[in-house]
Amino acid sequence: MSQRGIKAAALAALLMLPFAATAEEAPYTVSNSHELDAETYQGFKLYRNWCARCHGTYGQGMVGPNLAESLNVISKDEFFSVVENGKTGTIGSMPAWSSNPQVMTGREQLYRYLKARADGAIGEVKPKKAK
Ligand code: HEC
Repeated sequence: MSQRGIKAAALAALLMLPFAATAEEAPYTVSNSHELDAETYQGFKLYRNWCARCHGTYGQGMVGPNLAESLNVISKDEFFSVVENGKTGTIGSMPAWSSNPQVMTGREQLYRYLKARADGAIGEVKPKKAK
């Protein structure tokens, strides 16, 4: 195994812990760190349109918090509810999206995309749709 392979294996082993704890399957498919399945890609497009200006191009945070980190902490239900109702806290204030049908119907896809970011499955590159 190459040096890089060993590192990747060690990282994978580390990442297995939270995966095992939730026993959930990854809700996305990402190849080559940037090719997303159609649903996840739709999440990326929604994210780019509605969320990136506050949460950063890669979800790394700007005015709003780092969502890649948040999605390792908050549950899917919390995510759905925060997006629907907005949130005002110590960092600032996010508007509610309840009156935006694109965001509301796209919450599942947004979640997939951000979960992939949280798991480090997508690199700091612009993703594209897998063929
Ligand atoms: C106008 C700026 C702005 C936009 C646009 C925005 N957010 Fe936020 N968001 C924030 C701020 C600020 C917070 C932090 C509120 C606090 O806790 O102080 C936040 C918090 C969140 C949280 C909770 C994070 C946590 O750890 O509790 C989630 C989830 C989230 N945003 C998702 C989204 C999604 C998805 C979109 C796009 C549909 C979006 N946001 C668009 C500003 C924004």
